[in-house]
Amino acid sequence: MNPLEIDWNRLNAIIAKHRGEKWGLIPLLQDIQETIGFIPPESMEPIAHALNLHPSQVQGVVTFYAGFSLKPKGKWVLRACRGTACHVKGSRGILRLMKKELGLEEGETSPDYQFTLETVACLGACFLAPTMMVNRDYFGKLNPTKVTSILAQYGKEKGDE
Ligand code: FES
Repeated sequence: MNPLEIDWNRLNAIIAKHRGEKWGLIPLLQDIQETIGFIPPESMEPIAHALNLHPSQVQGVVTFYAGFSLKPKGKWVLRACRGTACHVKGSRGILRLMKKELGLEEGETSPDYQFTLETVACLGACFLAPTMMVNRDYFGKLNPTKVTSILAQYGKEKGDE
């Protein structure tokens, strides 16, 4: 399925599962984010209706939390740490290499929706600095060779467009 197409069947099933839950907004949004990969802006109204909220309340939560995205992301979301512990261990060079290998800047998604590149303030694994994540998997003590091999593991061959 085209990642830009909204799977309304799945979306409506998730909304129905949380309908009427008093504190259900965040769990519902997390459910959509994990299942669909993003929160389609068109879903704000039906979500609000199901939880008896105003659409602006839903929008406020979606835009406040960095974990929610209004745009589709790649199959693999790569998060490079730019925190202090990683910075002193060379994270800047790691990020530069990732950008070059992926042909992406921070916040961008590849046209084939395979990869999204993001940076975060700290991945909470400073003892492994420099670190990165691919979806939910952590990788630490990175060096250029390790980064290239991790990208290859996720289907990014060196020099791919
Ligand atoms: S600063 Fe990079 S994991 Fe904490």
